[in-house]
Amino acid sequence: MRIVVTGKEGQVDTSLQSLGEALGLEVIRVGLPEIDLSKPETLAEPIKAARPDVIISSAAYTAVDKAESETELAQAINGDGPGALAKIAAELDIPLLHLSTDYVFAGDKDGIYTESDAPGPVSVYGMTKLSGETQIAAATANHVILRTAWVYSPYGNNFVKTMLRLGETRDELNVVADQKGCPTYAPEIARALLHIAQRVSKDPDPKLRGIFHLTGQGETTWAGFAEVIFEGSALRGGKAVKVTPIPTEAYPTPAKRPANSRLSGEKLAEVYDLRLDPWRVSLDDCLTRLTGVAAPVKE
Ligand SMILES: NC(=O)c1ccc[n+]([C@@H]2O[C@H](COP(=O)([O-])OP(=O)(O)OC[C@H]3O[C@@H](n4cnc5c(N)ncnc54)[C@H](OP(=O)(O)O)[C@@H]3O)[C@@H](O)[C@H]2O)c1
Repeated sequence: MRIVVTGKEGQVDTSLQSLGEALGLEVIRVGLPEIDLSKPETLAEPIKAARPDVIISSAAYTAVDKAESETELAQAINGDGPGALAKIAAELDIPLLHLSTDYVFAGDKDGIYTESDAPGPVSVYGMTKLSGETQIAAATANHVILRTAWVYSPYGNNFVKTMLRLGETRDELNVVADQKGCPTYAPEIARALLHIAQRVSKDPDPKLRGIFHLTGQGETTWAGFAEVIFEGSALRGGKAVKVTPIPTEAYPTPAKRPANSRLSGEKLAEVYDLRLDPWRVSLDDCLTRLTGVAAPVKE
């Protein structure tokens, strides 16, 4: 089976490549400069030449704060580019799997967000990702949109790597404690995407299509996440770093973020029998891979 993935050096596309190889699936990454999502005319030729059975749309404009001042570029890459990809998938008569975000939600719900909750993005990034979802749904019914969140991995840029880097030179860090979400490990996203790709390429059941939430099990705040990162680092010989919880107002950013963006994985579990590992289990694997040191086994 041949899978074309957009993005070359991102967290999820890199994870897809390495897991695909291990599973004997052919994963072909296409990205800048040969395809540019902000230039839809660059997409069709390289994708069609690869003769894919499934397309996975992973690449995106992911700089949440910068998107506030680069609205048009973010819309082209996150909204119109995926729309154009969906038209190519429809022409090829193959499924499109697309990654979206928890930031399509406003964050004012008390409970966990399900797929039937109405989106209401509060940032340009969230609005453009929602536009991608809408454009894909308009272009092809043969799509699976997977909203993920708080992605981390040994690759690219992410919160885990930022915390470890800051912790090298600081003994104490202030971290936002009033935004709740579900940290999600990119290799786990890759595992789910490859499972889903294999199912939808063989099974035309409409129940397998549509919007699904895809996050690590469990929830935390950014401060809670940071504490567990430094605990795991200390277990591996890293230095102790104190995390001081602060409110969002004390750390102003150009983009507003939802206070609650916890996503329910129940639909994915029911329809695909898939659950991602708990985020603490995945974080342990990530820290081992980043530091080259496994945590000592508890007695
Ligand atoms: N990161 C998160 O916390 C998070 C949370 C929720 C949802 N998601 C979604 O999950 C997906 C994967 O995220 P990720 O963390 O793996 O992203 P990432 O590490 O930031 O990688 C993004 C990829 O997109 C590529 N890209 C950017 N602009 C492009 C363009 N104009 N044309 C073609 N490729 C372009 C980048 O290429 P270059 O490196 O060459 O620029 C990079 O390979 C995205 O759709 C994102 O919206 C991520």
